Amino acid sequence: MVSNLQKALSGSGPSLEIRKLTQRLTACIVGHFAHEERLMQAARYGSINWHKQQHDAARRRVGQFVLGIEQGDHKAGVALVEYLTSWLRDHTRLADRMMGAFLRNHRRICKLTFRAGTKPMDSCAWVDADGDRFDPLAK
Ligand SMILES: [Fe+2]
Repeated sequence: MVSNLQKALSGSGPSLEIRKLTQRLTACIVGHFAHEERLMQAARYGSINWHKQQHDAARRRVGQFVLGIEQGDHKAGVALVEYLTSWLRDHTRLADRMMGAFLRNHRRICKLTFRAGTKPMDSCAWVDADGDRFDPLAK
């Protein structure tokens, strides 16, 4: 999605296309971060706050760039692509890998039956390693 936005920006495509791509990218980021945060919460991941702070910072920055794009600032689109390219590389190399290793090794390895783009978020359900449903917020 970042690559598609970059292509649209370099081709000086219509601003409507750039805005649509930006909206799709934003929805993807929001959904993906929420997915990761549910996984971390369900597995009681110890570094969830540190990880979520990185997501929060990215959400804030992306929101600022999107606001600029909505106001017709072409440079904001270019800045968004540069920021996300760098942020995603750094975040996935450390924070996401640490989370993935924890989830793989955790005794309550969980999976979310939700698959991005196939079901609405409301229909998400948590299951444990045995396939039984559970509430990650239950104590
Ligand atoms: Fe993450």
